[in-house]
Amino acid sequence: MLPTELSGALLNESIRYENGALWCDGVPLDALADAVGTPAYVYSAARLRANVARLQAAFAPLNATIHYSLKANANLAIVRLLAGLGLGMDAVSGGEIDRALRAGVDPARIVFAGVGKTPAELAYALDAGAGWINVESRDELRLLDRLAAERKVRPRVALRLNPGISARTHPHIATGHFGAKFGIAPEVVADILAHQSAAPHVAIEGLHVHIGSQLGRVEETIEAVREAQSLAAPYRTLRTLNIGGGFPVAYTGAERYPDPVQFAAALAPLLNGWQVKLEPGRSIIADAGLLLVSVLYVKHQGGHRFVITDGSMTELIRPALYEAVHPVIPLRAAPVAGPAIVAGPVCESADVLHRGADLPPLAPGDRLAVLVAGAYGMAMASNYNLRVKPPEVLIEDDTWRVVRRRETWDDLLRLEEDV
Ligand code: LLP
Repeated sequence: MLPTELSGALLNESIRYENGALWCDGVPLDALADAVGTPAYVYSAARLRANVARLQAAFAPLNATIHYSLKANANLAIVRLLAGLGLGMDAVSGGEIDRALRAGVDPARIVFAGVGKTPAELAYALDAGAGWINVESRDELRLLDRLAAERKVRPRVALRLNPGISARTHPHIATGHFGAKFGIAPEVVADILAHQSAAPHVAIEGLHVHIGSQLGRVEETIEAVREAQSLAAPYRTLRTLNIGGGFPVAYTGAERYPDPVQFAAALAPLLNGWQVKLEPGRSIIADAGLLLVSVLYVKHQGGHRFVITDGSMTELIRPALYEAVHPVIPLRAAPVAGPAIVAGPVCESADVLHRGADLPPLAPGDRLAVLVAGAYGMAMASNYNLRVKPPEVLIEDDTWRVVRRRETWDDLLRLEEDV
């Protein structure tokens, strides 16, 4: 079997084999790797645009406003590109608000979310004029009310509801159940709403409910929206529902997930007359990105074929952290020789990029692509083992440019005082 067939479902118009060589849009990836080295993240602008268009079309009947979830990938060039497509932004730290502003995003189109915003971050969001603050506790509401009073502003607030619903997803990314730190319990939301005069300097105009990421079904989302609506129903000033992100993407090609059109169709009958907001991250950027790595060594031991690459958990931690599966395919298609454990150089047994990848015979110098790596890849990269973070390359048709250069050892020392 050719790797082309194995991962066919995960290849797309942008990332595909041509005459046995892997391309991203109009750029052959082997030549790109020659130019920028490996490991390197590569993103397709065309695929990003297509993903945004798909979401916008799916939710057009609901008139939804889309706020890209910056945590998935906040590279400045990417944020600019997405802002240029008309997206607002979902920020969860002062750093992300700063990034959005530097990318030219209108502050009014920023929603500021997060379970542990610091006083300084809230003050910064108010001073910047962030359009919405998603509040996650009574304490936070009190603090925000005081900061707003001091500034003589009245921010728009959505209370983040924890509806007590377990989404079908990995436990690390389920957020809507009562064991999770996120959101405000329904009875507390009801109490806050009943006593809005206690926080006169904020305008509570919405509820926010994000029950998890990589949601496997629409049912739990519907349930969460119903719960939010029943809490909001008595208040005429409360007509915005932010239903978060979480639209799933395929990582293996075997998944049977609902697509955005199915989510939108299921939600539409409920949301008539409501202002709808979304915060998708993964579904916009995941399959627009891949990680290029090179084979360093191949060894056989304990009945396994180990392929040691220059890419590791410091570039892509998702397999180690969530047992996430990212397909690994060769840049040059060839018949599969059997399974391999693709691992990196980091001194951790968990430093495995893929266990059981079907790969052709490989030798040092051969190159591989780790697919569907655009979301929570570079965003979660680290310098563990004093590894430098990889460059990021953005492809526009047949041209490419480095939008973040590879770090250097000097970069690693830049913040140390005793050099
Ligand atoms: N809104 C809120 C409030 C969120 O917490 C998240 C993700 C999103 C939106 C965006 O969700 P998305 O559309 O990307 O699923 N690092 C993990 C994912 C963590 C997601 C955290 N919150 C991973 O690599 O799978």
